[in-house]
Amino acid sequence: MAINRNIQTLDEFTIQELRNFPRATGELSGLLRDIGLAAKRVNVEVNKAGLVDILGDYGTTNVQGEEVKKLDVFANDHFTGVLQHGISCAGIGSEEIDDVVIFDDEISNQSKYVCLFDPLDGSSNIDVNVSIGTIFSVFRRVSEIGKPATKEDFLQPGNRQVAAGYVIYGSSTMLVYATKRGVNGFTLDPSIGEFTLSHPNIKCPEKGKIYSVNHGNYYQYSEGVQKYIESCQRKDKSNGGPYTQRYIGSMVADVHRNLIKGGIFMYPGTTDKPNGKLRLLYECNPFAFIVEKAGGVATNGTQSILDIQPTAVHQRTPFFIGSKLMMDELKSLTTQNEQ
Ligand code: AHG
Ligand code: MN
Ligand code: MN
Repeated sequence: MAINRNIQTLDEFTIQELRNFPRATGELSGLLRDIGLAAKRVNVEVNKAGLVDILGDYGTTNVQGEEVKKLDVFANDHFTGVLQHGISCAGIGSEEIDDVVIFDDEISNQSKYVCLFDPLDGSSNIDVNVSIGTIFSVFRRVSEIGKPATKEDFLQPGNRQVAAGYVIYGSSTMLVYATKRGVNGFTLDPSIGEFTLSHPNIKCPEKGKIYSVNHGNYYQYSEGVQKYIESCQRKDKSNGGPYTQRYIGSMVADVHRNLIKGGIFMYPGTTDKPNGKLRLLYECNPFAFIVEKAGGVATNGTQSILDIQPTAVHQRTPFFIGSKLMMDELKSLTTQNEQ
């Protein structure tokens, strides 16, 4: 049988990218390889999610006498462990951990990067077989190499990200990541256990027909956001409406679809929660970086997500992201109605 060498694995791709930077040390490709490795392990566990009744419910003890962990805790432990034992990461911040974790050992203290992640996004969808994901963000440290990382390494604005990406555990499993050179998507080929380049140089269409928002909160949104949602529903030649509403409750799935097909995703502030629900550092920043590198736009309603100076690891922000022309429409309607 002829071997298909028409494929390029994630490792091959990152190493090839490295050749464009003569001074690169290979640490970022090492970090991406570690993330890909953790993702493959989490993928195996996600695929078993429907079998909890057979293998043991989360929080109980399985037949081997081991405690069965909730999938988001499992994913968190896995990503943390792989990055701690790898040689490219000096510390992590995670949705599942109250404070940042500084690895502080001889090898980690020499590492250039820190990583923030949401180990399992869309966890309410685990039990119902809907796509879920992992989101990650990578910064170069601002602290001195050779010493332990510091909190400041994690509290950098999103425009300082070196790389950001997500893994979607869906009808197939994909890893998509962005650097300043662009956005590329890799699909896991289960027959060889490798992420292979399937979506080179992803561009977000300038305009789409999909809007994604939790309509249940409609009466809690600002007037400007309500007006925009109404405009999405109007049959109007100028915007090609009415748009189609799609919202599954896993941001990874919603934003991935809109990135590929064109669309807008919103998690606005509400009267109860003026800053919305989503977390700046490991949900909004990475997606803002990816979508902007693909030609789209991401804001908090007034300013670019990537320009926000974070003050706390778990801070939340209203979030609007998507195709450029749809984001322009949103901006003009919200500024008209909210001065
Ligand atoms: P997580 O599972 O990490 O807590 O995040 C879920 C997030 C996001 O993925 C999704 O878009 C949003 O919560 C859904 O929230 P609502 O149910 O309030 O719309
Ligand atoms: Mn999440
Ligand atoms: Mn989560």
